[in-house]
Amino acid sequence: MSLRPNSSNPARVAGADSADPAGTAPRGTWGSRLGFVLAAAGSAVGLGAVWKFPYVVGQQGGGAFLAVYLGCVLTLGVALLLAEMTVGRLTGKSITTALRMLGGRRWAWIGRIATFNAFAILSFYVVVGGWTVAYLWRAVTGALLTDDTTRLVSDFSSFIGDPVASLVSMAVFLALTAAIVAAGVQKGIERAGKWLMPALFVLMLLVIARALTLPGAMAGVAWFLTPDFSPISGDTLLEALGLAFFSLSLGAGMIVAYGSYLPKDARLASSAVWVATLATLACCLAGLMILPAVFAFGVAPDAGPGLTFITMPAIFAQMPLGHAVAVAFFLLLLFAALTSAVSLFEPVTAFLIDEYQWRRGPAVTTVFAATFGLGVPSALSFGLWRDVRLFDRTIFDLMDYVTVNLMMPAGGLCVALFVGGCIWPKARTVLDAPRSRWFAPVWRVLLLALTPIAIFGVWYHGL
Ligand code: TRP
Repeated sequence: MSLRPNSSNPARVAGADSADPAGTAPRGTWGSRLGFVLAAAGSAVGLGAVWKFPYVVGQQGGGAFLAVYLGCVLTLGVALLLAEMTVGRLTGKSITTALRMLGGRRWAWIGRIATFNAFAILSFYVVVGGWTVAYLWRAVTGALLTDDTTRLVSDFSSFIGDPVASLVSMAVFLALTAAIVAAGVQKGIERAGKWLMPALFVLMLLVIARALTLPGAMAGVAWFLTPDFSPISGDTLLEALGLAFFSLSLGAGMIVAYGSYLPKDARLASSAVWVATLATLACCLAGLMILPAVFAFGVAPDAGPGLTFITMPAIFAQMPLGHAVAVAFFLLLLFAALTSAVSLFEPVTAFLIDEYQWRRGPAVTTVFAATFGLGVPSALSFGLWRDVRLFDRTIFDLMDYVTVNLMMPAGGLCVALFVGGCIWPKARTVLDAPRSRWFAPVWRVLLLALTPIAIFGVWYHGL
């Protein structure tokens, strides 16, 4: 397969390089490289940044965790983003089919497992997605606007403990996701990414401005930004690694699926750097938004999965036009969560289409039903099934731990070895642009040496 990264004409590469007039390619392509970067970043930026990152930082003790997380993203993260894009770009298929085409039958199993993992992640992701739906509704009715954090804490736990409310909101969120996937790649995913993500960033900046000027907020900023490596444990390292994978949407076939829709002349390396930058930026902004408020309002930093939902309303209550800001914020958070959920839904759907030649409609319906089924136990584990525990974790926590901290790094590791080893001569051709050629050896070292060492090292300490 020959690649022509069109580097002789930078003006053309930079922006609207709509290589494949949409419609001629049966699977569709992105309208432009910018469309791809924004869509991939739209997948990356979601509940991981705004919901998961702040509460995990809270549990793991602040600055040192941030430092380890950034270290993971900048090294493994970028290398693996690029590796997954390469697999998608070289084959134009989703991960299972792609690995089989490039590496033979045995590798297809890695793809199947990764796809299953995307599905498992989706099943608990939609639970939290449902929380954003419900909180959007509460923001609209104004029920949220209070800075009485004791009340916010008890409201939150009674909501997530109520089986009807949480299952209904989860179903709404999942139905929205399925509807976007059913509409197809370009129309559904790309359009949403182009407008909503920038809007979310702007709104986060506004909210940060208010959060930072709350009395006592600076203690939170200092706590977030000053690394103190003494409390770092194996568990912290494992959480940081898992979160790096989660926040970049790695290790589950998602970037492969998006990469398969890339036009032939897209520049991959810089796309990978962009996606990683935007995702990390979103995490840092979310941290700067939530953690100062945690300190200002005297919430316990290790309050867990509810942290964002407890502190955000308190900030809004203290903002001019707080009601409107609250509605806008939860609306944008919902969209960010939807673009991410879509990216978990899409590879599973693409798997059924590519592997079994299903039509899109039945594939979407099946994934919808199966995800709902698997999501129910996770949703109930905050209420009725609170006491069902395995290895000292609730069902939700266990799903999260196994998929994010174990399966995603494992998937990433396999792709790294595959791209850096088995298909290296082909893989390096995607870097043909002269400006990124120096990067090939660095990339290979990251894939073949640093990734395995880091992942095994972290597993060894964390388990
Ligand atoms: N990165 C997304 C977030 O932070 C979650 C996500 C979307 C994801 N697609 C993924 C995680 C694929 C792992 C794999 O919200």
